[in-house]
Amino acid sequence: MTKIAFTLNGRPAEAGAAGLERLATVLRRDLGCHDVKIGCDAGDCGACTVLLGGAPVCACITPATLAEGQAVETLTGLHATDPLVAQLTKAFERHGAAQCGICTPGMLVSAAALLRANPAPDEPQVRDALGGVLCRCTGYRKIIDAVIDWRGAEAPQDGRVGGAVARVDGARKVEGREVFGDDAPPADALVLRVIRSPHHLARFGFGDLDAYAKAEGLDLILTAADVPGLNAFGVIPAFVDQPVYAEGTARFRGEAVAAVIGPAARMTALDLSAFPVSWHPEPEALTPEAARAAGQMHEGRAENVMCRGFVKKGEAEEAIASAFVTAEGSFQTGFIEHAYIEPEAGFARWENGRVEIIGGTQAPQMNRDSLALILNLPQEAIRILPTAVGGGFGSKLDLSWQPHVALAAMRLKRPVRVVYSRSDSMSSTTKRHPAQMRVRAGATKEGRLSGFAFDGAFNTGAYASWGPTVANRVPVHASGPYAHADYVARTEAVHTNCVPAGAFRGFGVPQAAIAQECVFDDLCLALGMDRLEFRLLNALDNGIPTATGQVFDGAVGIKPCLEALKPAWEEAVKAAEAFNAQGGTLRKGVGVACGWYGCGNTSLPNPSTIRAGITGDGRIVLHQGAMDIGQGANTVIAQIFAEALGVPLEKVELIGPDTDVTPDAGKTSASRQTFVSGNAARLTGLALRAEVLRLTNCADGVIGFEGGLTVTAPDGIRHHVPLAEGMDYAIEAAETYDPPTLPLDKNGQGVPYAVYGYTAQMAELTVDTTLGTVVLTRIHAAHDVGRAINPMLVEGQIHGGVAQGIGLALMEEYIPGRTDNLHDYLIPTIGDVPPITSLIVEVTDPHGPYGAKGLGEHVLIPTAPAILSAIRHATGARITRVPATPDRVLAAIRAAKEA
Ligand code: FES
Repeated sequence: MTKIAFTLNGRPAEAGAAGLERLATVLRRDLGCHDVKIGCDAGDCGACTVLLGGAPVCACITPATLAEGQAVETLTGLHATDPLVAQLTKAFERHGAAQCGICTPGMLVSAAALLRANPAPDEPQVRDALGGVLCRCTGYRKIIDAVIDWRGAEAPQDGRVGGAVARVDGARKVEGREVFGDDAPPADALVLRVIRSPHHLARFGFGDLDAYAKAEGLDLILTAADVPGLNAFGVIPAFVDQPVYAEGTARFRGEAVAAVIGPAARMTALDLSAFPVSWHPEPEALTPEAARAAGQMHEGRAENVMCRGFVKKGEAEEAIASAFVTAEGSFQTGFIEHAYIEPEAGFARWENGRVEIIGGTQAPQMNRDSLALILNLPQEAIRILPTAVGGGFGSKLDLSWQPHVALAAMRLKRPVRVVYSRSDSMSSTTKRHPAQMRVRAGATKEGRLSGFAFDGAFNTGAYASWGPTVANRVPVHASGPYAHADYVARTEAVHTNCVPAGAFRGFGVPQAAIAQECVFDDLCLALGMDRLEFRLLNALDNGIPTATGQVFDGAVGIKPCLEALKPAWEEAVKAAEAFNAQGGTLRKGVGVACGWYGCGNTSLPNPSTIRAGITGDGRIVLHQGAMDIGQGANTVIAQIFAEALGVPLEKVELIGPDTDVTPDAGKTSASRQTFVSGNAARLTGLALRAEVLRLTNCADGVIGFEGGLTVTAPDGIRHHVPLAEGMDYAIEAAETYDPPTLPLDKNGQGVPYAVYGYTAQMAELTVDTTLGTVVLTRIHAAHDVGRAINPMLVEGQIHGGVAQGIGLALMEEYIPGRTDNLHDYLIPTIGDVPPITSLIVEVTDPHGPYGAKGLGEHVLIPTAPAILSAIRHATGARITRVPATPDRVLAAIRAAKEA
């Protein structure tokens, strides 16, 4: 151990470093610098950026010994001591530049170094300085804005519905105080590591585990034999099929077979390759075609087909056969990794005969219910206390780390922590489903759709996860937001020996949109019709039945979205064509695509409950159990509640998710929290207001806070609200909202969702036809959100979703066993996301709180097809497989020339 002495945030510090131990480890473990976040431990993500001698470095790849005699500065120190950084953090809040907040310390520290040297940087300089820090949430644009505008004036905050108020939990994110899963465990917690299969399919057997544990000084080894309850978990009751620890056979590379637990120092040094397990690999099936012919993986799922989805309206085949023009195509997408910057982390402890699990999740109540079955404990014996979540996007709906630490803490009666390495995280947690899709469509001479048929096989991996949801949601949405008289969509989710595919922003709809929108472009070419006009002509509208026969009478917002794009479209198409007419190897293109998305569960109960109370001294407390994973639920739901109650937002105190004290607000998925939990918050606010008015005998009035809670009646008389002391709450309310849906019949006809959100996006880009590279110039994103509860957060969602759509279109593909890190798996950097024009359209929905619709998933659905449409406009290249890497673009250009 080498002793090192340095200055940490202006104060002398000392620590010990073993060998090449990394600075990030020493700062977090020994000096309590939890504002230094570790996202990859390999210098890829930059979340751990600190200043060493004034220069930004990745602390996760910097040997701690290099700090000897140097000044080390982290975000908390910079914020406390440097007025420039204090101003910069305010700018981040003002611009909504932090969403989940896990990358924020790295961004701010990098920006601080830039601004100290150059207080007035331009955009390219900001991009250069922040280029080493990855963000998966924001799409970077608001970060760039905040850095350039770091000295800008503070705007007055408007917390009412419609106000672009800064997020209520923003300060702790930008000041480095936010607590994520790996920041929470006590220092003396034991450490758990998971033993995983290195094979896609293998039988295995253990050697002498007791001898290994003794020799290595371990406290415990867990295998399937140690699970006291059900050795299985899943998210859909009829599809609970994934073992906590595999028994005898591991069905995907990365599957857990055992866990080892011991003291932190011992576990860091432990060589897991010596763990006594023998593997007997078997031939794997990694694609749906291979899996259909392989051995059956799960009982009752013949040919490894897990489930099927189906929607039929009219007679698609006859309509296509009689169409004036037809088009068809086959399309393919790969696995997409969520790539949140915070890997899975947390700890469990045994408290008074109960297990408490503390860490990141998107679904606290679902986690508790599954863990009760695994641990064989009543639900009341389990408490889920979520920390902040450093990005989720669907994957943190599923259990991953929780059963391991819960089992260990229950056995050892001691706190046990775990943090997944980046490779653990990427190899074992869910992905976006790879899809193989075939689309056929027809149109009349005038350009009206005349028949549409979609067939899709989705690789759902070794276990079900959210595969059934994807299989059922895609046939409903594969129509796009268009009017189809004759429609059929068939899907299959097929098991393979791949990592399970699950929920990822859109549940299969982004994949389907790639195929559907490309075939619509085919029809436009065949008809010689403008692509935007074709979409306008065929856009769904009020009074026209959807593909499932649902009719809306006033909330369909796709036409206004397309109309919002029209001026930019006409100008950009003209400019691109003028540019291309000059010749040369660079070609400009413009593309358009649409999307829609039903908010909440498909034809299933989907309730949220929100509780609130007023204390005897007039404090207003909101128990908000909807997980905020960066999207802004804490702020939006509080805004809706405050509006309904009739008080300023700043008067609302928030109690965050905790299964002991917040009612079930459901999972954070399917773009449901603003709509469903927002409605519950509105009803709770209204109920509490009614009680306040009743206590003062007022029919209406303005709630005030002068000398206790008051109501000023319309006649100007102020009444004190009589509030009893001595209880938790003098008055309280808890209200539930469950969206009205109806089951789908055997043809998929029914009311799957109460509310849809709509979007149309347009991409402008340049293709280098000699290299196949694509440079995006601008994305225009029109979104019908019903009512923008908080326009700044709406823009943040648009930017983040567009960035993920760019990744889907141009660079992302997870290959099991080959891309388990963030240098082989590429996500968009700050240099990859062009300016984004957000066009917020508000077609209010009668079901939505104050008219609001959901937004989270919608945003990336049209991005990839709009980009592919633009590449084709530029070059003629028809891309049928994403990502559109330069080699694929070049091949498609060649194919277009030869056609
Ligand atoms: Fe950047 Fe979440 S805010 S990763």
